Amino acid sequence: MLVNSIDVLEAASRQHYAVGHFNINNLETIQAIMAAATAKRSPVILAVSKSAAKYGGLANLVALVRLASEKADIPVILNLDHGPDFALAKDCIDAGFTNVMIDTSKYPYEENVRLTREVVAYAHPRGVTVEAEIGALAGTEDNISVEEKDARYTKLEEAVSFARDTQIDSLAIAIGTAHGVYKAAPQLDFDRLSAIHQAIPDVPLVLHGSSGVPADDLREAIRRGIAKINIDTDLRQAFLAAVQQKMAAEPDSVDIRAILGAGRDAIQRTVESKIDIFGSANQA
Ligand code: G3H
Ligand code: ZN
Repeated sequence: MLVNSIDVLEAASRQHYAVGHFNINNLETIQAIMAAATAKRSPVILAVSKSAAKYGGLANLVALVRLASEKADIPVILNLDHGPDFALAKDCIDAGFTNVMIDTSKYPYEENVRLTREVVAYAHPRGVTVEAEIGALAGTEDNISVEEKDARYTKLEEAVSFARDTQIDSLAIAIGTAHGVYKAAPQLDFDRLSAIHQAIPDVPLVLHGSSGVPADDLREAIRRGIAKINIDTDLRQAFLAAVQQKMAAEPDSVDIRAILGAGRDAIQRTVESKIDIFGSANQA
């Protein structure tokens, strides 16, 4: 069933596991993630970015997710990922999303608060929950000094006032992860995470850029308060490697179902292994 994030992330926070957010683009990605979450009896978050909405068509993706989640006996959240503005957040809410992320973290603090509050004011009366972000994620090649960390990562005082002033339902924080493929292993600022969690224990914290982060680091992040973990690149890599392998093994094949199906199976395996790391199996 489709639900908003309140009960799902509250339970995750309370019981020290995290719910996986997995990006979707098309039929195969939806099928793979839903099959994995259903097999593991795990709550799951299916996420659509602005570019995925453009590629798949917002209404198409909503219809596919709605059908799939009606059949599945697990909580499913349909989430807008990194919504850049009110207009897209509104379109997603009107189309049937159950959670939206408004990401105006590139703006100065006051502007970020103002833009986030606008989305919360539209979302909450409609039963839709909101995630927002404060701080700037690292780059995949960054070797960040202590001074740079303090300048770019989420500041404790800002996280506290941002959560209070916006009334968001979950908060994405910057503690050293980056979007995409890491050139060097990321160094997560666990003390910063613990301090933020202790200051706002009722606000579920979100870790973006989690592909390529070692499993032990993800477990430690969960132990210290992360309740939602975003994965995209790992799924893309799994899909493309399997498709390439299939095409190399059967160069004369014109069976697109077999070729894309290999990619779909690879995503399913990847999501199942993430669910095991996150500890969300059997929590549906
Ligand atoms: O919002 C999406 C995520 O932060 C995904 O990041 O592609 O590095 O896994 P990733
Ligand atoms: Zn992200």
